[in-house]
Amino acid sequence: MTRFSLNALLFSLAALAFAAQANEPAPAAYKGDAARGQPIASTVCGACHGPDGNSPSSANPKLAGQHAEYLYKQMKNFKADANGKSERVNAIMNGMIAPYTDEQMKDFAAYFASQKPTLGEAKNRETLELGKKLWRAGDASKGLPACAGCHGPTGAGLPIQYPRLAGQYAEYTEAQLKAFRAGERANDPNKMMRMIALKMTDAEIKAVADYIAGLH
Ligand code: HEC
Ligand code: HEC
Repeated sequence: MTRFSLNALLFSLAALAFAAQANEPAPAAYKGDAARGQPIASTVCGACHGPDGNSPSSANPKLAGQHAEYLYKQMKNFKADANGKSERVNAIMNGMIAPYTDEQMKDFAAYFASQKPTLGEAKNRETLELGKKLWRAGDASKGLPACAGCHGPTGAGLPIQYPRLAGQYAEYTEAQLKAFRAGERANDPNKMMRMIALKMTDAEIKAVADYIAGLH
């Protein structure tokens, strides 16, 4: 071993030891426990979202297979802060999430994340090509980025920030895109989704939402 690489090795070992030491005092962040979340998640939440998070009705979003970090963030955003303000406003969910602690929300998130998502389907043949084009390429002429760039080519999302979209009900996706566009949903970091939705017409929103329902 050359002198240089030996020095480099010793340096990295020292850095590792230092990092281990520096990390020691902080308690490990609670990750959530799917088994602990299951009893409430599969019944109270399951009444609308389906016992396994595959909601039986397009009125309620599917949660199965969604990234735990995203699910937890949404629950926190629904939950009112000390001033009674919620970052994400929805009459049903603001009430539903109110009684639960931070640990319980992480447990619910772990439970739904561990469930297998069912497939959905696109219903409108005429708009499929437009939906696919927007998903894969966006529209450079108006600075609309490809959805796939952040949500992944198959819509599986990218932990920890970018949610899974594949298989979601088109009605829900459409409603969220319109809410971002109107600024009614404003919990997206750096206005990422609000800026995008502002560039979309109703027809484009409908087309991409329908395409997403059939993505897998
Ligand atoms: C009465 C029906 C109902 C019940 C019960 C319910 N939800 Fe919801 N949930 C909804 C609706 C409707 C939405 C969509 C809200 C919106 O449009 O912003 C939603 C949205 C969510 C989202 C956001 C999903 C996303 O993709 O952004 C999460 C997370 C969630 N619910 C978790 C829960 C948990 C955890 C429970 C149980 C403590 C629960 N819900 C109980 C109706 C319900
Ligand atoms: C620059 C990255 C980026 C791009 C490009 C992007 N998104 Fe998003 N999207 C996000 C982030 C981040 C969130 C999560 C916001 C939050 O934390 O609430 C999100 C959330 C969403 C949601 C809400 C999901 C839910 O379960 O409630 C929908 C729907 C959505 N995006 C659709 C799209 C569509 C359609 C496109 C393409 C036209 C697109 N996104 C392009 C970053 C992006």
